[in-house]
Amino acid sequence: MGRLVVDVRTQVEETDSKPKSSDGEAQWHQMSMQLVSCPELKESVGLFQMPEHNAFGQAFRAYDAKDGERQACVEDLYRANHTHQTYDFGQAMRQKHLQFNKAVMSIWDCCELLNECVDDSDPDLEEPQIQHLLQTAEAIRLDYPDDTWFHLVGLIHDLGKVLLHPLFGEEPQYAVVGDTFPVGCAFDPAIVHTELFKDNPDTHNPQFSTKLGIYQEKCGLDNVVMSWGHDEYMYQVMKHNNTTLPPQALFVIRYHSFYALHQAGAYKHLLSETDHENLQWLEKFNKFDLYSKSKVRVDTDEVYPYYQSLIDKYFPKVLRW
Ligand SMILES: [Fe+2]
Ligand SMILES: [Fe+2]
Repeated sequence: MGRLVVDVRTQVEETDSKPKSSDGEAQWHQMSMQLVSCPELKESVGLFQMPEHNAFGQAFRAYDAKDGERQACVEDLYRANHTHQTYDFGQAMRQKHLQFNKAVMSIWDCCELLNECVDDSDPDLEEPQIQHLLQTAEAIRLDYPDDTWFHLVGLIHDLGKVLLHPLFGEEPQYAVVGDTFPVGCAFDPAIVHTELFKDNPDTHNPQFSTKLGIYQEKCGLDNVVMSWGHDEYMYQVMKHNNTTLPPQALFVIRYHSFYALHQAGAYKHLLSETDHENLQWLEKFNKFDLYSKSKVRVDTDEVYPYYQSLIDKYFPKVLRW
């Protein structure tokens, strides 16, 4: 088992004064409910058997399930997220978190640190975060035994959520979790709770409110600024620490919360040819991320040596965060 040794290099900055919401990750559109009962999709998932229900006995990403408190929580998240996630906010967060001076720790240390973070309004998560990581990774391993990089993607895809930890400034949830989308161009109606963008200043900025905004057709997602969250942060951490994971692995991690793209097919006019190829892996990945949130517990001690061997293959011993 990994030993948690976190080297705090700098004093954590005070969090900003923006209102904090008690939100959660990745809210759902009607579509998720349809996917759960879609037999073709079940077949396409292969060996991994998707459970019908999450740990709460509800359909996955069913944010309109009869749990008023959770639903209010999720709406609070989206109200805050859609109001504050502007182009400028994203740039400020990049400035703040891409210095990589918050901690020096290994990938496994980060998995353990993430257990201390609460993403309390994800309606599909009741287990510790590390269980979601391992369940995702193990489900992928079952269906794609030879794609070892893909197993590791399952394990590390949510590590960027450590931004919620006090060590990283305890960022508000709207700046860490939830669906992501491009900024600098019009918000597509396919984004969940699209009506909540009305108070976002970018909505009223003529430069940012056309379909292309500041971008060009087929410019490639590399050239598009996404709303800030755990996806982008983890992607940047991997790049900064010279991971040897293949490009499709980085793509999956960077855009796994971009539901408007990988579920609704929006924003495809911005994609390059390479993006289209990588998107296939993202679509495969999403099923595991979503449907492996169940009560099937993975024995951490048992699988630890395997995942540590993958970490050793693709990452340095310690990383700067
Ligand atoms: Fe995530
Ligand atoms: Fe996840």
